[in-house]
Parts: sequence; C-alpha cells; structure tokens
Amino acid sequence: MRMVDIIDKKRNGGELTQEEIQTFVDGVVSGEIPDYQTSAFLMATYFKDMTDAERSELTMAMMKSGDHLDLSSIPGLKVDKHSTGGVGDKTSIPLAPIVAALGIPVPMISGRGLGHTGGTLDKLEAIPGYQVEISESDFLKQVRDQGLAIVGATGNIAPADKKIYALRDVTDTVDSIPLIASSIMSKKIASGTDALVIDVKTGAGAFMKTLDDSRKLAKALVGIGKGVGMDCMAIISDMNQPLGNAIGNALEIKESIDLLKGQAPADITELVMTLGAHMVVMSGKADDLETARAMCEKTITDGSALQKFGDMVAAQGGDRNVIDHPEIMPQAKFKIELPAKTSGVVSKVEADEMGIASMLLGGGRQKADDQLDYAVGIMMNKKVGDPVKAGESLLTIYSNREDVADIKQRLYDNIEVRDTAEPFTLIHETIR
Ligand code: URA
Repeated sequence: MRMVDIIDKKRNGGELTQEEIQTFVDGVVSGEIPDYQTSAFLMATYFKDMTDAERSELTMAMMKSGDHLDLSSIPGLKVDKHSTGGVGDKTSIPLAPIVAALGIPVPMISGRGLGHTGGTLDKLEAIPGYQVEISESDFLKQVRDQGLAIVGATGNIAPADKKIYALRDVTDTVDSIPLIASSIMSKKIASGTDALVIDVKTGAGAFMKTLDDSRKLAKALVGIGKGVGMDCMAIISDMNQPLGNAIGNALEIKESIDLLKGQAPADITELVMTLGAHMVVMSGKADDLETARAMCEKTITDGSALQKFGDMVAAQGGDRNVIDHPEIMPQAKFKIELPAKTSGVVSKVEADEMGIASMLLGGGRQKADDQLDYAVGIMMNKKVGDPVKAGESLLTIYSNREDVADIKQRLYDNIEVRDTAEPFTLIHETIR
C-alpha cells in the first residue's frame, strides 16, 4: 500500500479502511513515512474530516503504537480528567487531590503547554524538586500508596501521538476534531483509566472557537471512549476569558493552593467543584451530583485535599513547604500594573491573547526547546462583568524584564471596557 494513495483518498474525501489507517500509523512510528507525507495526510484530514469509524480506528492504531498501562494492581475504580487546553486552566492541580482525598484513585497523565495554552506538567515543575517523569512502577506505587499522581506520559504511551502532535503544531493542523479526539483518547485509553471526565473548552482561548465545534469534539471524544467500554462524559466550559486570575506557571500553582485553602476566585472554584462532583459520581462514591459536590467541598474545609496535595508533591520529589511558602518558587523581578484608560465595566478579556502575552514574557514556549521562566505571567485584577474606574489596575504583569511596552500594548488591545457587559456563562453543556 502506497502512502501517496492513502493521502489521495483522504484528500478526495474518501473513507479510509482500518488497514489504510494502520499503515499510516505504523509508517509514522517506524519512520518509513517521511514528515512531508505525514503533514500532507494531516492537512487532508484537517479539511476532509473523518467518519466516526475512521476516528475510532485512528485512535486505536495510535493507542496500540505503544504500551498499555495495567492499573489492576490499584484497588478501586480509577477516575481521570482531561482538558482540551486553555489559558489559566490549572484545574487538574487542585482537582486530583480533592478527588483522591475521598479515597478515589486518580492516575493522571498530563501534558505540557502548547501554543498559547498552559500545561499542567510545566506548572508543577515550578515547584522546586517536583518530578513529572517517573517510571511506570513508581507511578503505580504512588497511586496505590497516596491515591494520586500527576505525571508525564510514562515510557512508551502512544508514541504515534508524540510524532503526529509535533507535526500538527508546526503545520497548523492542531484544531481538527479527528486529530484532537484521537490524540487525547489514544493516550487516555493507553493509560488504563476506568472513567474519564473531559473538559472541552470553547471560545477565544480554546482550540474550538464555537460552541457547535466544541459540541462536535465533545461527542467525538465521548463516543470513542464509550466505544472501548470506558465510562466517559464531557462538559463544555467557557474559555473566552482566562480561568481564574493567574496565568503563568508559579502564579497558577499559588492559585491552585489558594483553591485548596478555599481562597480562590469563583470561576475556577466552580469548575473544579463541578468536575470533581462528576468524578465522584462516576466512581460510585455518591449517587447524585449534589451529594458529590458537598463531599468535594468538605475536603477543602477539613484540609484533607490540601494534605493530599502536599503528599503528592513530596512523593514526586517536590518541596511541600510550597503550601505555606509559595515564595520558594521562582519570583519575578518586576510587577507592572496595567491601569484602565476609561471607567466602565470590563466587557471582554481575550483569553488567547492573555496566554500569548504570558508566553512572550517567557512563561510558554515559542519553540519546542525553549526554557520556561516559571516566575512570569499575568494576574487578572478585573474580569468580565467587573466595574472598573479609570486608573485602576486591570491586571498585573509579572516580568523579569523591565521594559514591557510591547506586552502592555497587546494587553490593552485585547481588553475592552464598555458601559455594560454580556452575562458570562462558565459551563455551557454536559455531554454524555
Ligand atoms: N490535548 C491533546 O493531548 N491533544 C490534542 O490534540 C489537543 C489537546
């Protein structure tokens, strides 16, 4: 079978067979298919989409390209959560300890930042000593002993995704439903979780900009999961403005700890509690969302979730003193305010542009091998719907360079202050 014929079929809108998809994935992993043909295939898929059957075949071929984790030595139903990526989205960091504090094992395999979106692993690495690359046996032991771990893909999980992902990033084929769905689900199926809650982001800061596309992606993800017998559901949550107030690695760890102390902004707290409640119901520890949510909230008031977070940090080599002394993480030299030019109500904060600004300060990667500056980022002082007076600070820039005129201009261009603001909806839909 020639790769050029497979590309041709997809380019002309044909439905690929299992054998053709397998040939493509095998060739990517072995290196027999050159990057230029893989890129052409990705672009053809981007434009012509895939049928449900093709999406499932692609997911399974990518999943089988590597190892399958066996979590059977960990007692109980294992529950995980995955987000399609956003700005200020540190949800996993407080969520895993909240759920684990209720005795539900959370084996979480997370990713790094991509484009304007942050990555859970990068954020955790802001904690001195925290190791995200641990062996499979240490990962299993930690989930057995502590009830949770947040790590990078151990060993050889879905190597096809690693290669395809790197090419998608540089060929502008990231925001494709079949490619996102197969990328996420191949890793999640390989990671062996029993149940999965997916947080599909929608809006300016998400890969899917419209509710309609986000709904299609959510249905594709849930459909693939259910097809392999995984208990799977999705929520669609808003990513037009950043989530919470903090954007940037150390700043987001601090906000995650604040959440575990019951002191975080309302939007991030609400999302974490909603996702947590779904995970608890899926685990069978509660019959309904209301009870499950109350259980999650109790882990905050009784301090058990904060304790779990500290246990996880320590087990992965990190310094748990970060809980009371966030200043042990890298600190920015300059804190620069962005004063409002007019009085009114904040009507728009473009999430993707806030993410890009944080990346340009050094908080994200512009090239794959860029070193991150964990200290830098942005703290939103005003969000959509907040009243503001001229001269009041809209946000604070945390920077290690003094001259941030370029960043300030970008931020001003992407925050609107008007007379009124549209009401803001955080959680749009639930897809089962
Ligand atoms: N996260 C992934 O793992 N893959 C994608 O394609 C997008 C988000």
